[in-house]
Amino acid sequence: SDPRPTDLVVFGGTGDLSMRKLLPALYLLDRDGNLDGRTRIVAVSRNGLTDADLRGKAESAVRGHHAVQVVEAGVLRRFLDRLSHVTVDPGGDPSGWTDLAAALLPGRDRVFYLAVPPMAFGAICTGLDGAGLVTPDSRVVMEKPLGHDLASSQALNDEVARVFPEDRTYRIDHYLGKETVQNLLVLRFANVFLEPLWNSRWIDHVQITVTETVGVGGRKGYYDTSGAMRDMVQNHLLQLLCLTAMEPPASYDPDAVRDEKLKVLQSLRPITGEQVLQDTVRGQYGRGVVNGVEVPGYLDEPGGSDTSNTETYAALRAEISNWRWAGVPFYLRTGKHLDRARSEIVIRFREVPHPIFPGTNAAGTGSLVIRLQPDEGINLTMLTKMPGAGALQLRPVPLELSFADTFATRSPEAYERLLTDVLAGDSTLFMRRDEVEAAWRWVDPVIEAWNGLSTGPETYPAGGVGPAGAHRLIGRTGRTWYEEEQPR
Ligand code: BG6
Repeated sequence: SDPRPTDLVVFGGTGDLSMRKLLPALYLLDRDGNLDGRTRIVAVSRNGLTDADLRGKAESAVRGHHAVQVVEAGVLRRFLDRLSHVTVDPGGDPSGWTDLAAALLPGRDRVFYLAVPPMAFGAICTGLDGAGLVTPDSRVVMEKPLGHDLASSQALNDEVARVFPEDRTYRIDHYLGKETVQNLLVLRFANVFLEPLWNSRWIDHVQITVTETVGVGGRKGYYDTSGAMRDMVQNHLLQLLCLTAMEPPASYDPDAVRDEKLKVLQSLRPITGEQVLQDTVRGQYGRGVVNGVEVPGYLDEPGGSDTSNTETYAALRAEISNWRWAGVPFYLRTGKHLDRARSEIVIRFREVPHPIFPGTNAAGTGSLVIRLQPDEGINLTMLTKMPGAGALQLRPVPLELSFADTFATRSPEAYERLLTDVLAGDSTLFMRRDEVEAAWRWVDPVIEAWNGLSTGPETYPAGGVGPAGAHRLIGRTGRTWYEEEQPR
């Protein structure tokens, strides 16, 4: 049967996220025939825009988006016609709620997207409820930061849960919307040859890296209250760790998948007290040169504290205490203003149990690299004989799968996937409350231990490879970061 038409109501509908990501993604879905012709988009803000103002802003947002390229006038008009604006001040004048009620059509599904700071979530949910706008099928979408620590995350979840039950609450981690991240599950669970090797018997360790060349930009005010640990590790990196380490779920069903991810988070060995010195590194960028441009250090960025200990880089050695992964370190690292923007997962295999070729150990071991961005692909490195009649020599050689070369189609934006799923009511790629809280349970003690240290984060020059401490972290056990051993 046809799904019911939906009214998508975006709080913060004229804000940064909406303009940079949500509206362009909705336009792309519309253009490619993936948005129900009846879907309407209601942008809510406090700023009294007219529908025409909103459409003007939306048009520039669409035209300015890198994935849009050519704008077809007919498609643009059809898309803009779906948009309207309603002014609501959640904590203030209640007449906005009446206006919103009047803008929504009966007999439709409702999706309420909270693209606003979390402190507004409670007032919005209460307002929606008070105005009788929450129907039995209404869904709510929450954007990060989903709290600042476990307690604030629980409080936030409680506020929303008063109005929306868990199975209609969609928590976004946009990494789960990336093509390659979903492909990680396909790679693991649709092919027969990886799973038998996917354990401590054959895998030596795992590296999960998300580096960026950008700094904090104009976001220092937010970032000072967050840092790399809360901004990236608590959500994106731990989600990648879950998908890499989880047991095969019984089905590709939202709760089956999320139950398995939760078990991984619950199996993370806590890093507390003194261990934080061994197993974690935090860094902060100083001034430097990124892509040929001189940039200020974090402390000199405008809009925040100039003595802040906020980390713009974090590296950790995580351990998953379960049968499959006992003894296999998972090295996580992420940072801003580094030399390269790159997200990848590296699986390093062990050496063969009984090497028969001289020099095998010197040549290294095989690895599987899953490149999430840029240049999405999979790279399986195998030890191979170098051609030649002289002494036998081995070299790791990659088998390369490039998504761009293999598939002629464009990879959708993460938000295209996620919005499609919300509109269809599929929560597989969204974080359940218990997952988010389990992630905070692991992250909180690390931040607490950092705050108790007499030393601050290690300064690293912007545009470089990050703090030296990260190299010591992995080097302590004789291991190296993947890129350090690639031929330059
Ligand atoms: C966001 C963080 O969640 O992810 C940002 O708040 C970060 O600080 C961004 O830059 C990275 O996302 P992507 O998709 O560019 O890798």
